[in-house]
This record gives sequence, C-alpha cells and structure tokens, in this order.
Amino acid sequence: MTVDIVILAAGKGTRMRSAKPKVLQQLSGKPLLAHVLETARSIDDSRLHVVIGHGAEQVKQAFPQTDINWLMQQEQLGTGHAVMQALDAIGNSGKTLVLYGDVPLVSSEQLEKLLAVTEEDGMALLTVELDNPQGYGRIIRNTEDAITGIVEEKDASTEQKLICECNSGILAIGNPLLKTQLPKISNDNAQQEYYLTDLVSMTVQAGRTVNGICVYDVMEVQGVNDRKQLADLERRWQQRQADEMLQQGVTLIDPARIDIRGKLETGRDVMIDINCIFAGDVTLGDNVTISANCMIGTYGKKTVIGDNTVIQANSIVEEGTIAADCAIGPFARIRPGTELAQGVKIGNFVETKKSYIGKNSKVNHLSYIGDARIGESVNVGAGTITCNYDGVNKHKTVINDEAFIGSNTSLVAPVNVGKGATVGAGSTINRDVEDKDLAVARATQKNIKGWPRPGKK
Ligand code: UD1
Ligand code: CA
Repeated sequence: MTVDIVILAAGKGTRMRSAKPKVLQQLSGKPLLAHVLETARSIDDSRLHVVIGHGAEQVKQAFPQTDINWLMQQEQLGTGHAVMQALDAIGNSGKTLVLYGDVPLVSSEQLEKLLAVTEEDGMALLTVELDNPQGYGRIIRNTEDAITGIVEEKDASTEQKLICECNSGILAIGNPLLKTQLPKISNDNAQQEYYLTDLVSMTVQAGRTVNGICVYDVMEVQGVNDRKQLADLERRWQQRQADEMLQQGVTLIDPARIDIRGKLETGRDVMIDINCIFAGDVTLGDNVTISANCMIGTYGKKTVIGDNTVIQANSIVEEGTIAADCAIGPFARIRPGTELAQGVKIGNFVETKKSYIGKNSKVNHLSYIGDARIGESVNVGAGTITCNYDGVNKHKTVINDEAFIGSNTSLVAPVNVGKGATVGAGSTINRDVEDKDLAVARATQKNIKGWPRPGKK
C-alpha cells in the first residue's frame, strides 16, 4: 500500500536569526530536511511531498533529487493549510504520514509502528510525555483513555494546560478520511490558523478511531526552533552514537569528544582518540587507530581505511581508499581520488590528490603528490613536488617501482620516472628518466677557495 508522506517545511525559522531557511540548518553534518527525507525514503512504497514557502528556491536547490514532489505554500496559514497544499497530489486510497522538516531524528521504526496502528478509516498520533509541555498541543483523552482531541496551548484552559501528554505533530491518517475531513477545517481559534490537529476531534466525531503511540525517546520528536535547541540535539545525537560505538567494542578515549556526521562502520579493536570528526560513509578495518584531532571523510562521500592502519594526530583524510598497514600523518592531508596500497607511509605535511601510491612506498615529509601514479617500494624524498598544473591543464606524473626520488625534486608533469631509476636531490625533472638511470638536473656546485665575506660598511 502506498504511503504519501507530507513533510512540512514552509516555516521561516525566525528564531534561528539566519539568512538560511530553517530546514537547511545542519545537524550532524547535513541539513535538517535531509535527515527527514532519508527516513521518509526508508518507508516502503512511499511518495514524498514537501511543502515549502520561506526560502523555497534555496530549499529546492539543496535537494536536486527527482523523487520529491515540491508544493508551494505562499502564505503560512497553519499546519492544516500546509497539508491542504498536498491534498490533490495524495492518493485516494492508502495512508498519509505527516512529518516536519525541523523534526530531524524520528526513526523509521517509530513511523512503521505508527502506520501499523493507523486504520484505513482512522488516524494515529505520536505523542510524548514532557515535564515542561509549554507550547505544545495537549492530548485530550476520555474516561476510557481514548484520544478525543488535541488542544493547542493558546486555546487550552488552565486545567488542560496541566496535561503532560503532548502532540509531537507527527501523525498518520487514512487517505479517504483525510480527503473528506481536511477541507472542513476552519481557522476559528486563538491563532486564526488552520490547525491540522483539528482532524483528531473531527475523526472521533465521525465515529472513527484515533490511536496514540507514546514515544519514550523524546529526541525522536524534538523540533528545532533556535540555535540552542539545535546545539542540544546535536550533542545528544553525538552522545547516542558514541554509546553505540562503545557497545560495538570501539575504544573511544573520550565519548564526549567524537563527532560522527554520517555513517561510521568499524572492525574489531578500533581505537579513536579525542576530537575526531567522521563525515559521510567511513569504514575502518580491524585494529585501526585514529589519533587525536583527525577529520576523516566528507559528506556524501565514501572513505575506507584498511586493517592495522594508523592515522596520526592532526591529519585530514577527505576521501579515498587507504589499504591495510599504512601509516598516515601526523599533519597529512589526503584529498579526493587518493588510493594508497598496503603498507604505504605518508608523513607530515604531505598532501596527496587523485593519486595512486603502490605497496610499501613512502612519501614521508613535506611533499605534494597530485595526479600521480607511484609504483611499489618507491621512496619519495622530502620536499618533492609533482608540478601537475601548467595554469590551464593538469598533467600526470608516473613513478615506477623501486624508483628513488631525491629530496626537493620538482617533477614537471607530464613526466615518467622508470623502474629502479634515481633522481638526484634538488632536481627539476621535465624529461622522462629511463629504468635504472640516474637523473640529476641542478646547477653544478662551485667552491671558491678562501672567499672573503663582505664586511659591514
Ligand atoms: C504544532 C502542533 C502542536 C504540536 C507542535 C509540536 C498544530 C496546530 N499544532 O504546533 O499540537 O504540539 O506542533 O511541535 O499543528 N508549517 C508550515 N506551514 C504552516 C504552518 C506550519 O509549513 O502554515 C510548518 C512549520 O515550518 C513547522 C511545522 O509546520 O516546521 C510546525 O508548525 P508550528 O507553527 O511550529 O506549529 P506549533 O505551533 O509548534
Ligand atoms: Ca513548533
């Protein structure tokens, strides 16, 4: 059965004090709305409708995926009015699920449960017990404990305000019921808004059932209205992920000082020191060590680090594949398109980009390796630069197995250094070097006997 998912995202988010629409603010490295869309997509046979208003163009541009039906709400006249914008697009049968672009952490399991208790001619709500329910719609139940309505804070009596069971806002409803009842909603209330929540009492009056699922994990239904709430939610989410890592057997030197902004998969006996950030899809093999202050991965990209590899302190691995038994850093920068074979060593102040480096090769100090293919057991001396860019085009450097590149060499690409060849320190190499040859390209040293230093005038 098809589930129409309507995501409300038209609000401005005034309290964020930002030029950006609220749903584009980031939690855990990606926009709030991206979290909701991902969860929505995980529901079987779902159709996505997103209601936008403030900053509509900006929001659309941030999500170029073609599976989203964008709906414009010119004026924000309430949550009921927002869902009305989707009414024509919603199927005549099946169910509709209403989510919010600023409630990012609801889980697909919770939504599946909600859909399961939604009768085709009824509706169901996610409710939450809050110590401080201020600002929330309150759940009204009758003597049999059945839900009969929702009263918004601004319309609530003193007595109703004492109710701690609140409306999370997330609800599911049978499409035929939604299609007949939603157009009947009025704005005759304290805020003169079209309340989606009025559907509850209307459904009950029509003799249908409104089921409620009380969510125990408040984080799942937590909305984001200001920077403080955003920061709090971020910390709680990070804490949750750190706890999961510990349970999986990862050593975290301080679980309060790790940030996982994406998906982190780990093998056995992984050790992560303090202040590390993981972004996008990152996979760490067995016995991997990530030392302090490392940034690993990029949003939307894949990074793989093989067994026993050590990433030393203050290193950045933006994206790429690092095989087993490598040693990276400290202070290394591994940029996109880097592929390191087993046992490679990349030392301090080395930058790599779009390059393959073969088994057991070493680039230990102060080098730039870009658009290069380096074979096995190559030694690249300190300060070596692949001059890959002529100001217009990028060119390739190839260094074959067992070559030895002396320190402070400039390899002016395109250029090829043969197998077992040697380049003398301080050379500027702009012609190919044959296998086993020695290339030296630097001014010959001249010594002047007993040269008198100039004195001070
Ligand atoms: C709503 C619920 C309330 C619930 C609370 C949970 C209603 C009438 N009330 O109240 O019961 O406890 O959420 O947070 O539904 N939006 C639009 N277009 C509009 C109005 C709202 O897209 O015309 C979006 C907003 O951007 C926001 C969300 O819907 O993301 C909720 O709207 P908001 O005005 O914050 O509802 P509340 O008054 O908090
Ligand atoms: Ca709200």
